[in-house]
Amino acid sequence: MEKNTLLKKLTDASQEHVLKYWDELNDEERKALSAQIETTDFQIIKHSFDSYKNAKPSEKKITPIKAIQLNEINENKDEFKEAGVKAIKNNEVGAVLLAGGMGTRLGNNGPKGVCDIGITKPVFIFERIFTNLLDVVKETGTSIHLFIMTSDKNNDETVSFITEHNFFGYEKDYVHFFKQEMAIATDRDCKVFMDSKSHMADSPNGNGGWFLSLEKSGLLDLIKKVGIKWLNVFAVDNVLQRIADPIFVGATIKRNAKCGAKVVKKSAPDEKVGVMCLKDNAPSVVEYYELTDELMNTKDENGDPAYNFGVILNYLFDVESLIKISSAALPWHVVEKKIPYIDENGELISPTEPNGYKYETLILDMIEMFDSCLPFEVVRNKEFAPIKNKSGVDSIESARELLKENGIEL
Ligand code: UTP
Repeated sequence: MEKNTLLKKLTDASQEHVLKYWDELNDEERKALSAQIETTDFQIIKHSFDSYKNAKPSEKKITPIKAIQLNEINENKDEFKEAGVKAIKNNEVGAVLLAGGMGTRLGNNGPKGVCDIGITKPVFIFERIFTNLLDVVKETGTSIHLFIMTSDKNNDETVSFITEHNFFGYEKDYVHFFKQEMAIATDRDCKVFMDSKSHMADSPNGNGGWFLSLEKSGLLDLIKKVGIKWLNVFAVDNVLQRIADPIFVGATIKRNAKCGAKVVKKSAPDEKVGVMCLKDNAPSVVEYYELTDELMNTKDENGDPAYNFGVILNYLFDVESLIKISSAALPWHVVEKKIPYIDENGELISPTEPNGYKYETLILDMIEMFDSCLPFEVVRNKEFAPIKNKSGVDSIESARELLKENGIEL
């Protein structure tokens, strides 16, 4: 784009300061900045910012959703397993690893998956994931396609790390990388931050855009060609999770659901996790801060809490439904963060307190777009060991304890 065209786009969005240093830039820098401006939808950012500033509480009616619980799963285990194994053997199940996040709470500067959580030997987070998926590959005698989402910020390191480790024994032709999109960051007045004279500050656009990014990368063609009907989408940081779990896959199929969500019983009524519910009769997740005391104390017919099952970011999605809903707009979330920027003298400042906003869409907002969702209970201590924080709750330390409890050598 010519400078004038860029300026027009920026002026329309009240962001003309982005070109402040244009005359100082060399050709390469101009090209990079121009490409970034071209691909940025400033109107979405403005719209999200305005909605955030004028946010009203949702008026959707929240009611309980029935989860399939451990007893019922055990009673039907054989039937579910048979259906799940059959789907896997027919190559109808693929896995999607969401690994585009910045892992800022853990703060290890780089892809979270390369983090070594071993004690007497190296055990990498990525290794745990490949090993867990390999269990199912061995059990079913079938290779499962694994799609790994990275971002501009961590793609090269992720790809070279996994390649250097020979895909941790996984068949490399079944591993496919794709990159998610980035979203610009703004100050508290919705002005875009620059983090250099030729680059707008940006960050991965959240985990909600995974399917659009997969589609854009061309990998949806492979999914259609292979005949994959179900995608098991999961987070990078749960080192105990079961992936492409035949019983979970079979239960979702047998119960005619278009989506399945692994859930765990909450450890306390006020635990800070999103719980499955219905919102205006559509399957959904209610965030812990939306859960009023009244909802928290509501009981089901057995006298158990009616909103008792927290999501662990392990979902099974029907591909046909994903294709239908892929064009539907997910809401954008505006999140306060510390965003490095250059000041009026061109000096890079790294703030110690939040100074602006990042913009992202979330996978949990996709659930509402499905006709049906089966919350599927799993045993917390066996399948949920997330690594989010440096220490304390959901840290490497807590995950190590759980791994040891499950007989995994570290
Ligand atoms: P989290 O919400 O825990 O975010 O991501 P995070 O980036 O890993 O960590 P913090 O919040 O900065 O500390 C849940 C899952 O979604 C993926 C993450 O990699 C993780 O597997 N994710 C998150 C993406 O793939 N892309 C994103 O833009 C954000």
